[in-house]
Amino acid sequence: MKKLVCSQCKRVSETGQAACPHCGASHPFTYDFSQSDRYLQQETRRVIEERRHLGLEGLVGGLDCVIVNTEPEHQVAAVEELLATTGLDISQAFQDDEYVTYVLATPGSADVLVRSRRQPRNPFWAFNDFPQSRRLPNTRLETLVFATPDLETYVSIQRSRGVHFLTPSLVRTDYYDFIQTPPSPFTGNSLGFIEWKEERSYASHGAQPVDRRPSKPDRDHLDNIGALDHAATRVRAEDRDAAIIEFMGLTNYHFDFAIYVQVFNSITNVARLTAGDYAMVFTSGISSYVNDEVSGPTEKFIHNYGPRVHHLAFRTRHIQDTYASLRDQGMQFLIPLVGSPHEGLRQTFTHPSSYTLLVTEYIHRYGDFDGFFTRSNVTKLTGATTRQ
Ligand SMILES: [Fe+2]
Repeated sequence: MKKLVCSQCKRVSETGQAACPHCGASHPFTYDFSQSDRYLQQETRRVIEERRHLGLEGLVGGLDCVIVNTEPEHQVAAVEELLATTGLDISQAFQDDEYVTYVLATPGSADVLVRSRRQPRNPFWAFNDFPQSRRLPNTRLETLVFATPDLETYVSIQRSRGVHFLTPSLVRTDYYDFIQTPPSPFTGNSLGFIEWKEERSYASHGAQPVDRRPSKPDRDHLDNIGALDHAATRVRAEDRDAAIIEFMGLTNYHFDFAIYVQVFNSITNVARLTAGDYAMVFTSGISSYVNDEVSGPTEKFIHNYGPRVHHLAFRTRHIQDTYASLRDQGMQFLIPLVGSPHEGLRQTFTHPSSYTLLVTEYIHRYGDFDGFFTRSNVTKLTGATTRQ
């Protein structure tokens, strides 16, 4: 089937209608592609040129933190689970009028904020309303927050591009200024932008300490689990290009490469800032969801859970011993370790968490391997998600 890109809204349709089914523009189709990165690469060059022209290059740095929201009754369990299965430990725990927040940190890593709301307004509600996720209507990785040295200039330039934010002005605290986008129609993710002042603290003025502060289990193998390596967001086949182009327009990331896994109807797309930084992965179908019998695991996941972050990957030393110890402590995995030191990479996926819906990936990068992913591992890991 033809895939047609709308020149107005940049979304993709699989019809030959005269008008774009997404934005209504008439006769908008400029490019017909099928299983190709050509259009995406053309557009990513345009976005980078636009960033340079507008002065956005250098205004957004690496990932600073991610915000995972849970149901209030699952929040402490979600924190305990992360304490027991990653290298993260609690650095702050507080509540204010809007949220109860646990900040989990480990050296050299973006922080993980586990949050629950204390008021009913949730801009992500509609993005959680899917067959398997609506039972947990407040649960998802909601926001990826990037550092900026000049938030006011950043927001002014982005507004000139037509970008909207959730709040009319910057959220100003004693320790940082912050703003975030509404959830993306392509990913359901919000992107946040933070400018830190001198002391680093997420707690706003007047925040109170929380009553329950779980302690980290004393298990040596957890010391092997380090920084957040990447997060993978699953997006619909027809939204892949728009999701990546949108992300690049809001950050300083570039599109690096895509691995096509034909057998599972899936594409793993990687955007990077620099070689050593946190990477943003987008996984999409090659063609759209049809039904559970014929569609691959990526499109089935989106049908059941909506577009969202599927997994968080943590860099892991001594991964064979660590994997064995995690399994001994009761952790369930979707697949045994895949890859080898010779190939440069070993990885595995856990079963999704009941409290966050997130899969955890453990990843060991060996030596000077700079390929980021291997086709063999991507294929096996994609196939493993059929079992979740
Ligand atoms: Fe991954």
